[in-house]
Amino acid sequence: MATLGIIGSGNIGTAIARLAVAAGMDVVLANSRGPESLAGKVAELGERVRAATPQEAARAGDWVVVSIPLDRYRELPAAELAGKTVLDTINYYPIRDGRIEVLDAEETTTTELVQGHLTGAKLVKAFNNISAFHIASLARPAGAADRTALPIAGNDPEANVAAAALIDKLGFDTVDAGSLAETWRFEPETPAYAVAYCAHPEAMRAFLADLPNAGPTPSPPDDPGAPLPAGKLRTLLADAHRPPVADRVM
Ligand SMILES: NC(=O)c1ccc[n+]([C@@H]2O[C@H](COP(=O)([O-])OP(=O)(O)OC[C@H]3O[C@@H](n4cnc5c(N)ncnc54)[C@H](OP(=O)(O)O)[C@@H]3O)[C@@H](O)[C@H]2O)c1
Repeated sequence: MATLGIIGSGNIGTAIARLAVAAGMDVVLANSRGPESLAGKVAELGERVRAATPQEAARAGDWVVVSIPLDRYRELPAAELAGKTVLDTINYYPIRDGRIEVLDAEETTTTELVQGHLTGAKLVKAFNNISAFHIASLARPAGAADRTALPIAGNDPEANVAAAALIDKLGFDTVDAGSLAETWRFEPETPAYAVAYCAHPEAMRAFLADLPNAGPTPSPPDDPGAPLPAGKLRTLLADAHRPPVADRVM
């Protein structure tokens, strides 16, 4: 039986855990406060899910999703993640993470930064450009006419294939967006980021623009999601221009 390790049990980690359970996978879920704090969540997600430490989730996973705030990435268990295919959902939000000079200077990408800590892991950027509620609403079985595509990017071809196979099981097609250096093509403020999956893109644009004023727990617009086919995503990725990260206000 395939096992998915998930480090980070928030919006994204939980949405992915739900899809993994629906796909018949076992899930080992971790946060920073310890397995006991996940009792309620594990009960809600069902018997295929168990709570663990980040180290245990890393060891147990055939794949491991890391989905934590960027300012905590140095706490990820590098030794246990060595050799693993690691799906990285992490984005850089200066209002949450503080300013990070190498990202502001566009010397590197968020995922390259995380890869620099997880030296032995095979990182694949994924699930970072779609809102958690759209992960839930847009997942479809393989072959569905209205299936949505997600970009992936990584430096290890075998890990990219493994990540695509996982994402297919979870309910999405994938489009290869290149190496970790190319992940800016679907980071915040690009056309493939968040609004691309919205039924009402203007409301999401307004929400994202207002994030600096929205307080600690912003409420995103209630949007059912709109399927994004692979061909359209390919065009968005190819036409993307690198956003000026130093100007990012969210
Ligand atoms: N929300 C979205 O729609 C969305 C979309 C795309 C990408 N992202 C990105 O995906 C990441 C997760 O987003 P989110 O909205 O799911 O965040 P979130 O709801 O704030 O959840 C963050 C999770 O990370 C855990 N965590 C923090 N530090 C940790 C550590 N050192 N070890 C293990 N777990 C740790 C937290 O556990 P504790 O509560 O125990 O501290 C919590 O479970 C972020 O980088 C975000 O920018 C989010």
